[in-house]
Amino acid sequence: MPTNHDSLALDNLAAVESDARRSLSVAEDEAALESWRTDVLGRSGTLTGILRSIGALDADDRKIVGRRANVLKNELEEAFDERRALLAAGKITDIAGVDVTLPGRPHRIGRLHPVTQTMRAVLEILQRLGFAVIEGPEVELDEYNFDRLRIPADHPARDMWDTFWIAEQEGRIAARQTLLRTHTSPMQIRYLEGHEPPIRVAVPGRCYRYEATDATHEWMLQQVELLAIDEGVSLADLKGTLHEFARQIFGSDTEVMLRNSYFPFVEPGVELAVKFRGQWLEILGAGMVHPEIISAAGYDPEKYTGFAAGMGIERIAMPLYGVDDIRNFYQNDLRFLSQF
Ligand code: PHE
Repeated sequence: MPTNHDSLALDNLAAVESDARRSLSVAEDEAALESWRTDVLGRSGTLTGILRSIGALDADDRKIVGRRANVLKNELEEAFDERRALLAAGKITDIAGVDVTLPGRPHRIGRLHPVTQTMRAVLEILQRLGFAVIEGPEVELDEYNFDRLRIPADHPARDMWDTFWIAEQEGRIAARQTLLRTHTSPMQIRYLEGHEPPIRVAVPGRCYRYEATDATHEWMLQQVELLAIDEGVSLADLKGTLHEFARQIFGSDTEVMLRNSYFPFVEPGVELAVKFRGQWLEILGAGMVHPEIISAAGYDPEKYTGFAAGMGIERIAMPLYGVDDIRNFYQNDLRFLSQF
């Protein structure tokens, strides 16, 4: 029959075992393993202490406790070796009850929006062609968006850009009217205010138009404005630059066509169409900076000339990615977006 003595010794053994197993399961390096071995199996270790005290027990108890303690010693030595092997293999299991050898749950990886990808590709090409990238305000003054681009309040060309006006706030914007810019062209004026020719800048940014949406029109669009002003800049420079740009973004054999167009801030005004997979696509408006804009900025238009262009990034992204409805870009449907 087991005595009290014996069950006390067995309880001790159980306590040593659970302590030892718990501390082994959180040992995460060689140093921790070694100190565990010293604490449990070393000369003055917890299990060693029990093994030593067995001699003092009654003969019967000695047998029961002795057997259990020896079995435990072997088990713990095995557990130690196993733990060390797992650590060496980089496969630690059972940290705080978590099996870290299980395959992880994959995280969904984000990706760049197709319009962002297109924007980055466009800017990279333009930078290689020598344009510095600058940005301007999305909330603009009527003065820059229209008036100083030679589009006065009563000019019929204002119909080209249906505008989101911003309600005036007493005391804050005084008599000037503010709006969400309808194009990036106001940066032509802003940049000329603070910089002298030679000028070569690309201005990316969002523009807003208060208009009904359809497959090719959105109320928000992204543009890149180009402005190049120097002595002797000609329409041939405009065409050469845009053709090279088109070749780099659509492919080296891309054909381009300049068509006559009208914008109050350029003279002459043109539209550029590119032939992509057999179809002519209009991707931008452009022209020679109007001499009045150059003289208003304080430069002699006889000496300085320049070209400007404004391209729609979605118009470029659509053929590149085979998207036939511009509205898809901004509906935030992951089934659509995850394809790019
Ligand atoms: N700002 C014009 C638009 O939004 C495009 C343009 C830019 C035309 C520069 C000529 C020169 O339609």
